[in-house]
Amino acid sequence: MHQRKLGINGPLVSEVGLGCMGMSDFYGTKETRDRAESLRTIQMALEAGISLLNTGDFYGIGHNELLIAEALKTISAKPLISVKFGAMRNPSGGFIGYDARPSAVKNFAAYSLTRLGMEVIDIYQPSRVDPTIPIEETVGAISELIQEGKVRYLGLSEASPENIRRAHKVHPVTALEIEYSLATRLIEKEILSTARELGIGIVAYGVLSRGLLSGSINGSLQDEDFRSHSPRFMGKNLESNLERVNVLQELAKEKNCTPAQLAIAWVLHQGNDIVPLIGSTRTSSLKENLGSLSIKLSPDDLKRIGDSFPDGTFQGERYPAFQMQTVAK
Ligand SMILES: NC(=O)c1ccc[n+]([C@@H]2O[C@H](COP(=O)([O-])OP(=O)(O)OC[C@H]3O[C@@H](n4cnc5c(N)ncnc54)[C@H](OP(=O)(O)O)[C@@H]3O)[C@@H](O)[C@H]2O)c1
Repeated sequence: MHQRKLGINGPLVSEVGLGCMGMSDFYGTKETRDRAESLRTIQMALEAGISLLNTGDFYGIGHNELLIAEALKTISAKPLISVKFGAMRNPSGGFIGYDARPSAVKNFAAYSLTRLGMEVIDIYQPSRVDPTIPIEETVGAISELIQEGKVRYLGLSEASPENIRRAHKVHPVTALEIEYSLATRLIEKEILSTARELGIGIVAYGVLSRGLLSGSINGSLQDEDFRSHSPRFMGKNLESNLERVNVLQELAKEKNCTPAQLAIAWVLHQGNDIVPLIGSTRTSSLKENLGSLSIKLSPDDLKRIGDSFPDGTFQGERYPAFQMQTVAK
């Protein structure tokens, strides 16, 4: 698999990473996800050459990190692990706030290291910028963890251009994790140019807009699936969005690929400083998505595809209202 450099000071990683979130959370609960299939999916990804696994300590309340640790026991590959922290959960799984104070950062890191069974976290980032704490303090704590050898690289997630600049002054930011797809093109306004100016790599998540762009969503989502509460997947918005996915299906037919493959290939072609995360939880969807790596898109193809889905084409916010307050806008 081809490699991409994550930020000017960062590591070389496979051109796509594997996002492990859905194996423990958000599309179901840790109790309802298929653990054996998740383990097989991680294993398949590593055997295919994926060298970046993405997780968060709150994905399944530690479940996702334990799952990754278990998967790594059976394979000699040593992928980089990127961990997010800060979101707090109660024992029933509810989200009960956010904490990115320096002491909390160090506490979260200690638990993650233990669950992962590792000496060092490769990339560590607050999952959201904590509005109650200056970002300099959160990032300062990660910088100390880097000096202590407990973390290798600093990341950010869903940070605004201003917060990216403030954080970068405290410690060089290696990667910004942010939603980017044909359905969510916000970063093209200011965030991408800010990251490029500062030499920060982009780890793109939601490249299928949470499965929407695969064409396999039919509207019957379980209550435990966060998409059933996400405006993009509700009512008239979903109807309109599925019509737009039909356009993607047609473009994919022309390139002899599936809409998911075309959507991932399009993000891959937006620059070598962007590493898309594949959010597969099943080996069959991972296999399909890896097919995107061999799709070549010409400048004409890219223009045609990009022009078919200008910013604002897809209806409905990407998160429910209360979560929209915490993401980059
Ligand atoms: N920084 C952040 O704030 C943030 C937020 C969300 C996620 N993330 C990270 O980004 C990763 C990827 O994001 P994501 O999983 O939310 O979004 P995504 O990659 O756009 O979509 C994943 C969803 O699409 C389905 N899917 C994938 N390939 C498919 C295919 N070929 N055909 C049909 N369905 C397909 C997946 O389930 P199946 O494989 O079961 O089909 C899953 O339900 C996460 O795992 C997580 O690590 C970061």
